[in-house]
Amino acid sequence: MKITSQFLRDKYLNFFKERGHAVIKSASLIPENDPSVLFTTAGMHPLIPYLLGQKHPNGTRLTDVQKCVRTGDIEEVGDDSHLTFFEMLGNWSLGDYFNHESIKWSYEFLTSPQYLGLDVNRLSVTVFAGDSDAKRDEDSASVWEQCGIPKERIFYLPKKNNWWIAGTTGPCGPDTEIFWDTGKPKCSDHCDPSCDCGKYLEIWNNVFMQFNRQADGTYLPLKQKNVDTGMGLERTVCVLNGMKSVYDIDLFQGALAKIQQLSGKQYSQDEQTTKAMRIIADHVRTATFLLGDPVGVVPSNVDQGYVLRRLIRRAVRKANSLDMPKGSIAEIAKVYIEVYKDAYPELTANADKIIDELNKEEDKFSKTLVAGEKEFFKVISHIQGKVVPGGTAFKLYDTFGFPVEMTEELAAENGYTVDVEGFKQKFAEHQAKSHAGSEQRFKGGMAEGGGQETTYLHTATHLLQAALRKVLGDEVKQKGSNITPERLRFDFSFGRPMTADEIAQTESLVNQAIQRKLAITCEEMPIEEARKTGAIGLFGDRYGEVVKVYTMGDFSKEICGGPHANNTGDLGRFVITKEQSSSSGVRRIKAELRKD
Ligand code: ALA
Repeated sequence: MKITSQFLRDKYLNFFKERGHAVIKSASLIPENDPSVLFTTAGMHPLIPYLLGQKHPNGTRLTDVQKCVRTGDIEEVGDDSHLTFFEMLGNWSLGDYFNHESIKWSYEFLTSPQYLGLDVNRLSVTVFAGDSDAKRDEDSASVWEQCGIPKERIFYLPKKNNWWIAGTTGPCGPDTEIFWDTGKPKCSDHCDPSCDCGKYLEIWNNVFMQFNRQADGTYLPLKQKNVDTGMGLERTVCVLNGMKSVYDIDLFQGALAKIQQLSGKQYSQDEQTTKAMRIIADHVRTATFLLGDPVGVVPSNVDQGYVLRRLIRRAVRKANSLDMPKGSIAEIAKVYIEVYKDAYPELTANADKIIDELNKEEDKFSKTLVAGEKEFFKVISHIQGKVVPGGTAFKLYDTFGFPVEMTEELAAENGYTVDVEGFKQKFAEHQAKSHAGSEQRFKGGMAEGGGQETTYLHTATHLLQAALRKVLGDEVKQKGSNITPERLRFDFSFGRPMTADEIAQTESLVNQAIQRKLAITCEEMPIEEARKTGAIGLFGDRYGEVVKVYTMGDFSKEICGGPHANNTGDLGRFVITKEQSSSSGVRRIKAELRKD
C-alpha cells in the first residue's frame, strides 16, 4: 500500500502529541513582521522570539507542519529531490527536553513498526565534529549508539554540515542529521552523508539550539536550551514508499496527469520532457501557496512578488515549450487547490485570487514571451563569442518581461552565458534605488532589520485596521501585511477605491488614537474565548489553541503574536502615503510613522 502525505502528517503530529507536545498551526509563508527574510524557510522562523526565551502561549513542547519556501536551489528543480515549496514536520523543545530525548524519539518514530518502521540498517547519522566555538558532540553520538546505530554509520562533520542557523545571526547550535541510504553504490571510498552523489538522502535534522550568534560572529549562550527539528514531508513520503523521486509521491500525481493531458505528451517520454513537467509542477505549486497564503503576495518586480513572478514566468515558458494551451497554469493550480483542500483550506478560501492572478500573469507574459525569445536568438546570431551582453539581458527584462535568471537559463540552453554584472549596471542606471536593493535582497535573502521601527509600524497596522473598519465597515478584513523599517503595507478586502475623504478620516482616526496615548495590553486565552471578546484576527487558527490578544485602549482588539509598543503615544505621526488596488476585491495602503 502506498503511504500518503496525510498519513505521515497525522502519524507525526500524533506521535509528538502523545509525548506532551501542543499541535500549532503553520505560520504564514510571508514572515509578517520580519523584514529580514523574504519567506519562511524553516519551522523555526516564526518561533524565534520563543527560542530566545519569550514564553509561548502553548507551552514548552510544540509540534507543527510548517509551509516553507526555499528558492536558493531553484536551478536544481527538475532533478529527483529539489523543490521550491515543501512542508516541514517539526517538534520543539523551548527550554524543556534536550538532545537525549530528541534523538531517542526520532529513532523510535523512524524505526518502530508502530510508526514508520524504517529499516535501521539503511539509516546513517551525522553529529557535530567540534571546533573552537562548541565542543565535539560525543554525547549525541553515544545516544545514537545506545539506540542501535553502529559507530561506522555515525559521522562527525564540521560546522559547514552540522550546524544550523537561519541567516547570519540569532539562535543556533550543533545539529544531528539523519540520512536514508537510497541503495545507490558509494561514489568513492570517501563517500559519506556530506556527499551529494545521491546515495544519502537527508530526511530529518535535529538542532540543539543553545547559542545566539552576534553580528560580530561571537556566540553567546542562550537563556535556555532548545530543540528544533525539521523533517521534509515530501522526501520522507518518497523514502517510505521506496520511490526514486519526490515527484512520484501522491501530492504531485494529479498535477502531472493534468500536465500530460494538456500537453498531449508523456511524463517519461524523454529526460527533457520529464524535467520540464517537474519544473511546471513545482513552480505552479509554490505560486499557488504564495498566492493562497493568508498574508498573501501578488506578482511584482520587487521582493516576494518578484520571486513569485519569476516562478510563474518560468512555468509559463516551460508550458509553452511543451505546447500547452493558454490557461494551463491556472488549470494545474486548480488541481493543487483540490489536493490540499483539507490540509490547507486557505487555498480554497483564496481560490478566486489564485486563479485570477495566475491567469493575469500568464496573459501578460505570453504576449511578450515569443517576441522576447525571437529577440534573444536574433542577438546571439550576431554576437562574437559566447557571452550575451548585459544590455540585451536588460532589454529582455525591461521590454519583454524576462527575469534575468530566465535569460541566463535560455543562454545556458544554447551554450552561452550572460554578462550579469553588465545587466546589473544597466538595471541600476534605469531603476529606482529600491528596485536594485530588493534585487540584492532576493539574491542574498537578507536585509537590514530595524527593531523598534518595525514594532511601532506593526502597532500602527492594528490601529489602521480598526480605523478602516470604523470608516468603511466591518467587511474590511486583513488580506496581507508587510513591514519594513520605513513603512507598513496593509492589504484588505474592499471592493472599490477609497475616496479622499475616507482616507483622510482613517488617517485622522489613527492619529487620534495615538494622541490619546492608549495603553497596550496583551492577554493569552483559547481562540474561542478570544473570538467571544470580539477580537479580530486571521482565520485558520486551530480549535483549542491558546492565542495572544492585543488590546489598544477601547480602539483595537486583535489576535496577534506581537510584539507591540507599550503605549500608542510612542508611535509618532501616522501618514497614509498610498491607497491603491492590490488584486481583485483587495485594496492596499502604504503608510509611515513620522517623527515631526
Ligand atoms: N531548522 C532546521 C532545518 O531547517 C531543523 O533544517
